[in-house]
Amino acid sequence: MENKINELLNQQINFEFYSAYLYLAMSTYFSEINMDGFAKFMKNQAKEELEHAQKIYDYLLLRNEKITYQRIEAPDTDWVNAQDVLDEAIEHEKMISSKIHELYKTAKEKDDFATMNFLNWFVEEQLEEEEKFRILQEKIKAFDECSCTLEAMDRELNKDQ
Ligand code: FEO
Repeated sequence: MENKINELLNQQINFEFYSAYLYLAMSTYFSEINMDGFAKFMKNQAKEELEHAQKIYDYLLLRNEKITYQRIEAPDTDWVNAQDVLDEAIEHEKMISSKIHELYKTAKEKDDFATMNFLNWFVEEQLEEEEKFRILQEKIKAFDECSCTLEAMDRELNKDQ
C-alpha cells in the first residue's frame, strides 16, 4: 500500500473515533435535558462510529499495514438546543463524507483496487448517515422547537432504538 493511503486510512480511524466521541457528547447533552429518545439515537450513532473505526483497523491488519495512534480531540459541547446539535451533526457527516471521497480519489490515483473496493462500503454508508441526520434535522426545523412536538419526536425515537 502506498504511504499516502496508509496515512489517510490511519487518519480516518481517528476521525471515526472522534465522531464516536462527538455523538456520545451529543447523547449526554440530550440526557441532561431529559430527551431520552434523542440521547439513545446519538448513543447508537456513537456505537456505529466505533464499528467504522474497527472496520478500517481490521482492513489495515489484513493488508499487513502499520497502524498509528493519534490524539482524539475533545468535542465542543456548547449547544443551545436540539436543532443546534443536529446542525452540527449533519455538518460533521458531510465533512466525513468528503474525507472518504478524498481517500477514494487517492486510492484510485494509485491504482489501489483493493482499497477502492473496501471504501465502497463507506461511500454507501455515508449516504445513509447524511440522510438519517438530514431527516431528523428537517423534522426539528419544521417543528420549530415547539416543545410538545419535540417531546413526541423524542418518544418516537425512544421506541425506535
Ligand atoms: Fe463513520 Fe458517521 O461516519
